[in-house]
Amino acid sequence: MRDYWHKDAVIYCVEVETFKDGNGDGIGDFRGLTDQLPYIAGLGFTTIWLLPFHPTPFLDNGYDVTDYFGVDSRLGTLGDFVTFINQAHSHGLRVMIDLVVNHTSNQHPWFQSARSDAKSYYRDFYVWEKHKPKNADQGTVFPGIQKSTWSFDRTAGQYYFHRFYHFQPDLNISNPTVREEICRIIGLWLQLGVSGFRVDAAPFLIEMKGADTPQSQEQYQYLREFREFLSWRTGDAILLAEANVTMDTIEDYFGDGDKIHMLFNFMLNQYLFLALARKEAAPLLEGMLKPPPIPENCQWANFLRNHDELDLGRLSDAQREEVFHEFGPQRNMQLYGRGLRRRLASMFNGDLQRLTMAYSLLLSLPGTPVIRYGDEIGMGEDLSLKERNSIRTPMQWSAGANAGFSNARPNKLFRPVISGGQFGYERVNVAAQRCDSHSLLNFIERCIRMRKECPEFGRGSWKSMETNNPSVFAHSVEWATGTVLAIHNLSDKSCRLKIDLSGCKAERLMDLLRSEKDIPLKGKTLQLNLKGYDHRWFRVIRAEQ
Ligand code: NOJ
Ligand code: CA
Repeated sequence: MRDYWHKDAVIYCVEVETFKDGNGDGIGDFRGLTDQLPYIAGLGFTTIWLLPFHPTPFLDNGYDVTDYFGVDSRLGTLGDFVTFINQAHSHGLRVMIDLVVNHTSNQHPWFQSARSDAKSYYRDFYVWEKHKPKNADQGTVFPGIQKSTWSFDRTAGQYYFHRFYHFQPDLNISNPTVREEICRIIGLWLQLGVSGFRVDAAPFLIEMKGADTPQSQEQYQYLREFREFLSWRTGDAILLAEANVTMDTIEDYFGDGDKIHMLFNFMLNQYLFLALARKEAAPLLEGMLKPPPIPENCQWANFLRNHDELDLGRLSDAQREEVFHEFGPQRNMQLYGRGLRRRLASMFNGDLQRLTMAYSLLLSLPGTPVIRYGDEIGMGEDLSLKERNSIRTPMQWSAGANAGFSNARPNKLFRPVISGGQFGYERVNVAAQRCDSHSLLNFIERCIRMRKECPEFGRGSWKSMETNNPSVFAHSVEWATGTVLAIHNLSDKSCRLKIDLSGCKAERLMDLLRSEKDIPLKGKTLQLNLKGYDHRWFRVIRAEQ
């Protein structure tokens, strides 16, 4: 068996500043995070994905870096980072980190030097124009907030390109020195023990920068260049790219298995939410069928919610409206004209049955699941915070002061904790859910354990199964170790389900989540009573077994 660890991974996404404050100054830090490693390992996660932790003005949650070789002093020291990695490894956890090299902060010394001297070594690290390009007002990633992709820098006397906010000038990847620098960054963190990188904004990172520069095939070569460097330094390290792109370019990212190892499945995510909104299986199947087949060593990363808005930009306007209507009807729940800035639990109005169904689905979909901190207990959002910060509030550890996140005075907290109401820390917290065997937290732990006993979900080839009910999504996954089935009722209505299993030569089904009794298959048709939002997993037992 090839050791494709990324295919068996269950990934936990954490941002240091909001997870746990270890020194009482109101900001989460590496010491706090290190203390909580047993919690993450205990839940069964295998890999941590750390959001950016480098020195930063924190204008975009650390996605505005001023030094790629350091740790922001508010979060700890390089020594604290190394202790964290060491302890993570002791707990059997791998660590992946964000690689944010599409752009730097405008406070980065490279940009400071580049802007102040046209002859600076760093001038060509960025993308400049004397005159504002004609298309400058197109292509911003944060419409409604950031108006242009070109801003005038008075010191430089020129315009610079920025795909994201104006304080994030894009690096000029066409410059070989910039690419060398990126390899140095990759090299440092690999040497310090990380197992891979989540490549931020991959399509923009590799684009030929500039006003009317046509995009070319050549840009995808950079991915091979980075991959080659990565693999030479650390053979089993991986690249997980953020690339919300059209399906005709997927092949350009995976190559022949010699470029990116994993891509977030944004397409599936959007169709999954359409399916959840409609309570119908068909859009989910449509989303699963959209991507082309991928090389054997590559993998999709699946998620329900991430740290950004729920981006629905690939749905039609009418479809997006359906999702907005169901999950975020108020204007201030919506963002950038395409997304929702809410957590999953609040979109489901705290419905535990619906939440467990959604996580069961996530953990059984073909690919590697990624779960964001706080979602395992069903945290909500704070819509009074700006843009995507609504879903970046401190982890709710207990009903104690500051949700157990920090000992600091409440006005010193990096962000306020969510207090009061259905999703306040007084009601939604780790301590309470630990003691409740029916909690979301305990469900997710059990479900991750069973997922690990079913490597088929991460590695096998899947088929959808026809059922007699349009709200039920049923699929089977087959691999060298066997065949598993997963059945999910996306609707709140109960039903008598029938599935024809004559194709899978099953004699019995082992119930993986609910009961120790096998289900004998009479006449090769599986008949089941499903409650609203029910979910079932089975292992196929064949006659010869
Ligand atoms: C994508 C990240 O997910 C987002 O949070 C960030 O604002 C942009 N990239 C810019 O780095
Ligand atoms: Ca702190």
